Amino acid sequence: MNPSSPILLFDSGVGGLTVHAAVRKLLPDAPIIYAADLDGLPYGTKSEAEIAARVAGLLGRMSERYQPRLVCIACNTASTIALGMVRDVLEVPIVGTVPAIKPASAITKTGTIGLLGTQATVRQAYVDNLEAEFAADKRLLRHGASGLVRAAEAKLRGAPIDRDAIRSAVQTLRAMDGGDQIDTVVLACTHFPLLTEELGEEFGGGVTFVDGAEGIARRIAHLTQGQAFDSSAPSFAVSTGDLGEFEALSGTLSAYGIDELRAF
Ligand code: DGL
Repeated sequence: MNPSSPILLFDSGVGGLTVHAAVRKLLPDAPIIYAADLDGLPYGTKSEAEIAARVAGLLGRMSERYQPRLVCIACNTASTIALGMVRDVLEVPIVGTVPAIKPASAITKTGTIGLLGTQATVRQAYVDNLEAEFAADKRLLRHGASGLVRAAEAKLRGAPIDRDAIRSAVQTLRAMDGGDQIDTVVLACTHFPLLTEELGEEFGGGVTFVDGAEGIARRIAHLTQGQAFDSSAPSFAVSTGDLGEFEALSGTLSAYGIDELRAF
């Protein structure tokens, strides 16, 4: 393994930064490329076919250009739809991000779990299967809250956050049958942990949020165990679309330890 070969972390926008932070903590020397598809954002309101084609195509081209040792799809929407397809076409190990229903099931005391994802994620058979496997004896209430993606993107650009989107997501879950019993909420979109504070205020306490970031970081560390990392190899962020728009995120990215931005 070439020690300069990076780990490629991919999301539609800033959501994957929640995964980036966890990976960076475990692998401080790893060259990491953070790839955002801002030109395709948001994924959550697109069709399955559109997301699958876009993600598989982009990851193919990115892998050719950057020769990563491992690709992480740091996006629940892309993973629940396109993980199998991407694994079929790329030869490097692929780590996906799927809703953390298993840990939520172990945590809940009331037996009622809320799940916030994008509209596309909550309708996936992948989620039905996770529910059947890990939460068959629980009540899982799902809500596709794509407005939270916009709120998270705004927050990281220092723009005003749409509080109504947050309130409406929480109220919708609470208004479902048994929603008052929710004590654990799966944040099934990598953008949503960026809003934990705002969501916590809206839920009004007594709710534990669960996401997959740390589990994914552990998986990546496990899969790259024993491999050498050249810490002087470049780590940077790359995005589709307009570089100027991406540069609006430069302050946030630099807080995540990413100082170079490039156009893809
Ligand atoms: N961050 C992505 C996820 O985890 C999706 C955001 C979007 O809708 O583009 O689901």
